[in-house]
Amino acid sequence: MCKMQKYLAAALALAVIFFGFVIIRVGIAKPSTKFELAKIPDDQKLHAAAYKDAYPLQYNSFMKNNEAAPSPTGYGGSMPHVSYLEEQPEMLENFKGYKFAVQYDVARGHTYAGEDFVTTLRLPPQKGSCITCKGSYMYDVYFKQTGWEYASKPIAEIIAPMQADDWFGCATCHDPDTMQLRVYQQGFVEAMARRGVDVNNAPHNDMRGYVCSQCHNEYYFTAEDGRVNHPWDNGFDPEEEFQFYQSGQAGGFTGDWTHPDSGAMMLKAQHPEFDNWVTSVHHDAGVTCVDCHMPYMRESGQKYTSHWMTNPLKTTEQSCLKCHDESTETLIARVKTINDNTFKLQRIAGETCAQAHLTIQAAAAAGATDEQLAEARLLIREGQWYWDWLAAENSYGFHNTDKLMKAGALAIDRAHRAIEAARMLAPNAPLAPMPVYVEAEHWNAAQHPGQNPPTATEEQAAM
Ligand code: HEC
Ligand code: HEC
Ligand code: HEC
Ligand code: HEC
Repeated sequence: MCKMQKYLAAALALAVIFFGFVIIRVGIAKPSTKFELAKIPDDQKLHAAAYKDAYPLQYNSFMKNNEAAPSPTGYGGSMPHVSYLEEQPEMLENFKGYKFAVQYDVARGHTYAGEDFVTTLRLPPQKGSCITCKGSYMYDVYFKQTGWEYASKPIAEIIAPMQADDWFGCATCHDPDTMQLRVYQQGFVEAMARRGVDVNNAPHNDMRGYVCSQCHNEYYFTAEDGRVNHPWDNGFDPEEEFQFYQSGQAGGFTGDWTHPDSGAMMLKAQHPEFDNWVTSVHHDAGVTCVDCHMPYMRESGQKYTSHWMTNPLKTTEQSCLKCHDESTETLIARVKTINDNTFKLQRIAGETCAQAHLTIQAAAAAGATDEQLAEARLLIREGQWYWDWLAAENSYGFHNTDKLMKAGALAIDRAHRAIEAARMLAPNAPLAPMPVYVEAEHWNAAQHPGQNPPTATEEQAAM
């Protein structure tokens, strides 16, 4: 080798070492968050306060879930009792006859899960199954003793022995003995097993999605024993889930309530964040709920996982900029554009569904029979399912924009076909009111305490 070749070889070796290191740092190695395992007394395992001294960084950041703060985009946020029913009054028609027309508030931090549960006006007639996603008490106390038996017992009996700090705590996501991530929610474990996934032996990165997904998903209670189940046997899209409910795969469960105006048997969609994210661009790139909602933080030189599970745009730098090279402002503006467009679609879809209920009611009043109305009722059941899937998913379009746009489009199509089918039966019936879509700024009730949302101008209403 001549001198020149030696220099070149040395430079090449250095480059290999340097870029190899960069690839390992960026691509493969997760930053280490060291901690020393502490022994938590058996009778304290459900109580977050018992973990405070051993894991102060995680405990203190978890307590930030108490903070009331709006979202940087104006959508969602973590404020006490912000009502969807005020923000989107078409929900009053769409959920008429069902408990969601009584109280339906925007979610806030995990530390409120117990309090908001026991005080909701929706609670009184419920069964034990409802505590399934409010912390691991259901599993560590009831399920370990008698399996799903608690699910069909009256809620008052089930929550009677629970203390204020028995709700959402550290054991919700951690095995208290090892502090490894665990999924306690057995309905999720069972539904994923039917898809061939052994949740608690899943790869570590999958667990970083499953610990959240065990609760943030679409579910129903089985008619047979009230257990929690999920409609995922055919896939995770709203059409595949609707097919699950239509085909008898849900056993004796056929719907949540009968709508008093249209007479249709309806389905309520529940926060399908998992169902939505699991087919998204971010999921396919290996980005989990935890990467965005629980970013790594540093305090006095120590790296730890933030336990403030809130809107990630409050921590855009740590949540997003580790992968994206746009500025914080650009990224927030991008998400807000997605929110604005999705919310418009959601309002139009919701109002078209409301109009469909009223048109079917008008056709029935004009003499159409149940048999004749069956087609229109099936169409509004399907249309409202798609609208609700979009509306109940908590990211206002962000988690998987194209999938939620499709849900909104299908909702508008099915609702219009329901209106058409009902109009054909009673062409002379008085027209149900047209949707009064309010072409205004997004109405954020948190920013207008005590006020009603704006109504359409006469001109808009006449459109
Ligand atoms: C790529 C990052 C990312 C991933 C992955 C992600 N989220 Fe989000 N999530 C966001 C952003 C950004 C918002 C807020 C959007 C907005 O302000 O409109 C959000 C909003 C939410 C909200 C509503 C918060 C509020 O302010 O009301 C919930 C709940 C939520 N996500 C849960 C989940 C769950 C559960 C998963 C996994 C199944 C998940 N997210 C995956 C970024 C992410
Ligand atoms: C909603 C789920 C959830 C809850 C509730 C939760 N954690 Fe975590 N925790 C996680 C996740 C996810 C990680 C990241 C683990 C990983 O990737 O290995 C984590 C990591 C940790 C770690 C490892 C060190 C680190 O910072 O990454 C400790 C210690 C910890 N949590 C303590 C607690 C304590 C104490 C509480 C109760 C105050 C708690 N956790 C509540 C989900 C949760
Ligand atoms: C045991 C069930 C359960 C688990 C596990 C769970 N959540 Fe939640 N989550 C809830 C409930 C219930 C609420 C609403 C609490 C309320 O409004 O009182 C909520 C609220 C939220 C909110 C709204 C808070 C805000 O500030 O706007 C976000 C974001 C969120 N969860 C993300 C996550 C992420 C990320 C994970 C996983 C690390 C996770 N959740 C795990 C049940 C769960
Ligand atoms: C761990 C890496 C990672 C994190 C963290 C992350 N992203 Fe992404 N993001 C990606 C990748 C990879 C893509 C896909 C890029 C592509 O395919 O061109 C993407 C795509 C996107 C897109 C385009 C979506 C689409 O449908 O094409 C938006 C918008 C976005 N990210 C916003 C965010 C925001 C906001 C956050 C923080 C809340 C965030 N991302 C966090 C890696 C990440």
